[in-house]
Amino acid sequence: MKGIVLAGGSGTRLYPLTHGVSKQILPVYDKPMIYYPLSVLMLAGVRDILVISTPAHLPQFETLLGDGSRLGLEISYAPQAAPRGVADALLISADHIGQDQVALVLGDNVFHGAGFAQVLRGHVRGVDGCVLFGSAVSDPEHYGVGEVDSSGRLLSIEEKPVAPRSNMAITGLYLYDNDVIDVARGLKPSARGELEITDVNQVYVDRGKARLVPLGREFLWLDAGTPDSLLRAGRYVRAVERRQGVRIGCLEEIAFRTGLIGADDCYALGAELAGSSYGAYLMEISALGERSQ
Ligand code: G1P
Repeated sequence: MKGIVLAGGSGTRLYPLTHGVSKQILPVYDKPMIYYPLSVLMLAGVRDILVISTPAHLPQFETLLGDGSRLGLEISYAPQAAPRGVADALLISADHIGQDQVALVLGDNVFHGAGFAQVLRGHVRGVDGCVLFGSAVSDPEHYGVGEVDSSGRLLSIEEKPVAPRSNMAITGLYLYDNDVIDVARGLKPSARGELEITDVNQVYVDRGKARLVPLGREFLWLDAGTPDSLLRAGRYVRAVERRQGVRIGCLEEIAFRTGLIGADDCYALGAELAGSSYGAYLMEISALGERSQ
């Protein structure tokens, strides 16, 4: 399965924070925002990942993540010249996807919960159609909203409905079979001139090939596209990390724990960041990991 992180857009809702800096580079507490969606792909077992951003911001991600080899990943980059919508990312990625299945994640989405890796890995194998992940929210009108029947089958999706039919927001993590490239090619721009991911998903709903996996209350899903939601995400990460002494979205740790890099590599990555508590954490867990092996 191939991965895509869409880190485009001009982040207008965060101006002036995003004048000169990509939204997805901004800090969510102790690490850049893109670490969180990238960690989701890593937990799903996806290693070959395309990062899409604006031509102006792409170099910031290349500086941050390089070619991914230090994390045991293959990371490549592609520009999105204009904000043409989430589904445009699928067109940009057609060569990267090739004949494979694809996991697309939005660069401002944060997921957290025990056992998330197991949930993901249970769904990435043999995707037939599309798999969406739903999360109950108090403000569904700001998201894509799914309507499911009593058996949990996905009946419809509405993008930012004025009167939502449920409180189940469709999160920014999407798994597709290879048909998605053709589906995206067949889209027409919406009223706001964008290729909507909800329209892609609606095609799969119409074909009876869309599944919605509700993430229960043991999982938290946040986005970070406004000053308040950015602060909320940062506060959440800080609260968990300080209380539990663990890190959320720590790419080096995930690479180490999933066997993409060894203990020595993890220690060396931490040593490079010596002086930060993040670096100290990496050195510490690399030693613990060796002892427990
Ligand atoms: C996009 C999708 C929406 C989804 C949301 C998740 O909205 O269009 O369906 O619920 O991401 O973050 P946007 O944030 O681009 O407005």
